Amino acid sequence: MGAIKCIIAAGGLGTRLQGFRGNQSTKILLKVNSKSMILQQLEQLISWGLKDFVVITNPSFDALIRNETSQINEKYNIEYAIQSEQLGISHALKQAKSYVNDGDQVVFVLGDNFFGKNPIENINFEELFTLDKNSIIFTKEVTNPEEFGVAVTDSRNKVIQIEEKPKEPKSNNAVVGLYIFDSTCMKKIDELKPSDRGEYEITDLINLYINEGKCSSINLDTWWIDAGTPERIIDLEEKLI
Ligand code: G1P
Repeated sequence: MGAIKCIIAAGGLGTRLQGFRGNQSTKILLKVNSKSMILQQLEQLISWGLKDFVVITNPSFDALIRNETSQINEKYNIEYAIQSEQLGISHALKQAKSYVNDGDQVVFVLGDNFFGKNPIENINFEELFTLDKNSIIFTKEVTNPEEFGVAVTDSRNKVIQIEEKPKEPKSNNAVVGLYIFDSTCMKKIDELKPSDRGEYEITDLINLYINEGKCSSINLDTWWIDAGTPERIIDLEEKLI
């Protein structure tokens, strides 16, 4: 088995948070309980046992993000890649291509997604490929699935369909911003075409694994917050205390 590389998407501007508490930069630098979101995120991932990181940054905030993450203990390896255009989540992931070797496994997390307890705690990374689990998604039942990626699974948690923000969701299972992929994800991204909104969607990448019968889902039994709006930041602050 190769290495486990944790890739953090931190290149988005977070337009819904511009102006919130005077924020004029990127949401990943917003303070969440007096600590920037990117530091909160790295500490969350380190607490899950991850050690090897690639942070995808935005060209305007690359230096600020690097400066912030320099506070993390040097025993953790942090690399950086710049996403120069905002072309979607799969496009963000692709920027880390040079850090992912054949046989590595990728834990991909959206920088603003936080969890009550470690969702990867029970995953045995060594056996995933032999079980056809070359990609794993995590879901949480919500009342507003149309705002997220939505998954349909069979009784053995094999994913049979995933749709990005469907108007008529086929389930209440929102796909959270945490994904596990084998190293073929980088080649697969090259096959993607932009969606109607002009983005390389993460759901389209996952569909390629579903077509191969190699995508499995884990239902979270803990809280999850996608901290992309002022209300959700406040909610997160209460949960992190
Ligand atoms: C993104 C993904 C979506 C996922 C969500 C989780 O949406 O495109 O599939 O459910 O993150 O946080 P966004 O929050 O960028 O609109």
